[in-house]
Amino acid sequence: MKHLLSPLDLSVPEIDQLIAVAEDIEKNPKKYSHICDGKKLATCFYEPSTRTRLSFEAAMLNLGGSVLGFSSADSSSAAKGESVSDTARVIGCYADIIAMRHPKEGAPMVASLSSPVPIINAGDGGHQHPTQTLTDLLTIHAEKGRLSGLTIGLCGDLKFGRTVHSLITALARYENIRFFLISPDELRIPDFVREEVLEANHIPYKECDALDGALPKLDILYMTRVQKERFFNEEDYIRLKNHYILDSEKMKLAKEDMIVMHPLPRVNEISVDVDTDARAIYFKQAQYGVYIRMALIMKLLGLEA
Ligand code: CP
Repeated sequence: MKHLLSPLDLSVPEIDQLIAVAEDIEKNPKKYSHICDGKKLATCFYEPSTRTRLSFEAAMLNLGGSVLGFSSADSSSAAKGESVSDTARVIGCYADIIAMRHPKEGAPMVASLSSPVPIINAGDGGHQHPTQTLTDLLTIHAEKGRLSGLTIGLCGDLKFGRTVHSLITALARYENIRFFLISPDELRIPDFVREEVLEANHIPYKECDALDGALPKLDILYMTRVQKERFFNEEDYIRLKNHYILDSEKMKLAKEDMIVMHPLPRVNEISVDVDTDARAIYFKQAQYGVYIRMALIMKLLGLEA
């Protein structure tokens, strides 16, 4: 049995295969509409979500399966003190696969130790978000035609932004990748990413505060929101939340073929006037999330079209 807890749980050939299946799903959805007949996905979300939970549910329904689950800790027996370990053990009696989001880093990994079925990490605290990364890799592959030879600017809350940590970890395995890490000083990338991923793999990167200086050099700009829920002090959040606002004026500095990505939800960091720019692909990115999650569910359940 295989779980997905970190992007590194999948090899590069496995990721390439998932992308190929997801691209086929987009073109031939009917071919996949009964693959999961009789199978059940449980979504165990101890933290709010729109895209991840609903795209997982849409993915399983598109495959012919069924879904069950809870969308907040308060509506589960976690409110009575039940551990994630016991919860996973029990839900594994009701479902064939579990997608779990939790505010505590490592909680899906703990669940995987007692679960009789595959566990998918759907976001654990400020740590990792591997299925957002699969979504991002599919988006980049579909829009740029490659996952190598890219200059990627990651902008915003690089400290708490788990999608950023997972995306850097995944892209570090491809050729000729370089990063601009654009953030205020207080929201710089954590040491575990800088040392264990960037430095360890000799990936070229530059840390800076100014978006304008980096923008003309980028193939991809990956914007992120400041993660309000991870701040201890509201004053710090208020001071930092509007540090970056990408608008149509700033987009004039970017290459004609640069793409703008964002895991969403967006708050103020991308002005709505950018939405009509052909380079803004963040809503399409959310759609790609359904195809790649369909491919992932099939893989973890050992099913093929
Ligand atoms: N991108 C993402 O994880 O969105 P949700 O928090 O809405 O699931």
